[in-house]
Amino acid sequence: MQEIKFYKGENIPLELHKVRVVQKLHLVPIERRLEALQEGGFNTFRLSTKDVFLDMLTDSGTNAMSDNQMAAMMQADDAYAGSQSFYRLLKAVQDVLDKKYYLPVHQGRAAENIISYAYVKKGSIIPMNYHFTTAMAHITQYGGKIAELLYDEAYVIDSSHPFKGNMNLEKLEEIIQLHGAENIPFIRMEASTNLIGGQPFSVQNLRDVRAIADKYKIRLVLDASLIGENAYLVKQREEEFKDASLGEIMKVMTGLADLVYFSARKLSSSRGGGICTDSNEIYHELEALVPLFEGFLTYGGMSVREMEAMAVGLYETLDETIICQSPNFIKYLVDNLDAKGIPVIKPAGVLGVHLDAMQICAHIPQKEYPAGALAAALFLISGIRGMERGSISNQRDEYGNETYADMELLRLAVPRRVFTLSQIKYVEDRVNWLYDNRELIGGLRFVYEPPVLRFFMGGLEPVSDWPQKLIAKFKEDFGDSL
Ligand code: F0G
Repeated sequence: MQEIKFYKGENIPLELHKVRVVQKLHLVPIERRLEALQEGGFNTFRLSTKDVFLDMLTDSGTNAMSDNQMAAMMQADDAYAGSQSFYRLLKAVQDVLDKKYYLPVHQGRAAENIISYAYVKKGSIIPMNYHFTTAMAHITQYGGKIAELLYDEAYVIDSSHPFKGNMNLEKLEEIIQLHGAENIPFIRMEASTNLIGGQPFSVQNLRDVRAIADKYKIRLVLDASLIGENAYLVKQREEEFKDASLGEIMKVMTGLADLVYFSARKLSSSRGGGICTDSNEIYHELEALVPLFEGFLTYGGMSVREMEAMAVGLYETLDETIICQSPNFIKYLVDNLDAKGIPVIKPAGVLGVHLDAMQICAHIPQKEYPAGALAAALFLISGIRGMERGSISNQRDEYGNETYADMELLRLAVPRRVFTLSQIKYVEDRVNWLYDNRELIGGLRFVYEPPVLRFFMGGLEPVSDWPQKLIAKFKEDFGDSL
């Protein structure tokens, strides 16, 4: 494990990189932050980065790139077909993910579209450890339904369970017997299960899922967008793998799946995505869909520069000093918030820190979107932009009714090697202040609700003048401070 111990004092996560290119940030006054929220419908997706101080919306496409990635981008080979950039990327996919065939796509959800188009039909059921928004949207788009099969522990906020992303094996068997294997085109496992707080599954669990998939002859699909981080936590938490390298662990995981897809925006600190498999049959089932939806088979909607950055980024995913940085910062922040009694998902996972809005905003009913309100309030008092991962991110059911989320979370993403520790300290300080003043936060209601993936562009408004009250208290405590 890449932990450097300190002689005296606090053990802090030490950056194992140096900063060579920087971007200036702006912390605008609180009055401007309120205007920005009003202009953006109290939806952090709709903020402009000129108003954002620390952008913790996502790690997707925002991880810092390495010098080697940037250098590789300069050597890209522009060609519609047969670009050398593609062949370098193909080799990287084969080396790192250990699959023979690779279909390029422009990002993760494009892979979800192709897989769902090919395999999902009306009446299909897709068992999964947990949904991701875009995966679910594509499955339902083609007439399928999802079945989320986590163990109860996965929904416990204050937990010490090392593998909350594990698939519930008993429930998996039950679902297959209930619906019949013929109605289940694939089982989906998501590495570092995003929406329950970036929580990993164990390799043993994946092996057990594979055994059930084999028993019923169902394909196993692995969403590997966050596989590097899942491997890192396997190394720390699963005895069998304590001496294994990240590369070895990743290969064991991908080797268990028939079909692996990923968002390169996360996996390789670049852009793009892909689908890979060892199966000639699966490759040919999906091949024709790439030119239909994405672009020719040697670029799949990506620029050649992106492909070069992705190839180098894939190899860098094997480097523990790179992969450990974000999880270690997350753990540091989780430990410090937890020590102050602030409800946060435990154990610390990957991708980001997840605040439990259900508890922090217990006075806000779910129909007034506590996690969305917390996201807006935190931005207002700090310029920190997080992402609502609660009921706003859920889609309505087929009858148009709200489906309330299992958890109301505010996710504060920690992209790889982007923030400094003092910035993380600032996050801790402002979350602490907001927690102490949480009674002042009020609810939100929709004024504009798009029919699909409403959380992206939806517009909301506060149900009362709570933002003004929060500003007044901020001024009382911080005076003229930004
Ligand atoms: N699968 C997982 C597990 C993801 O986290 C994401 C994206 C996707 C698929 C879709 O990939 O964005 O490249 O189309 N997650 C981002 C996030 C958006 O903020 O967590 P994409």
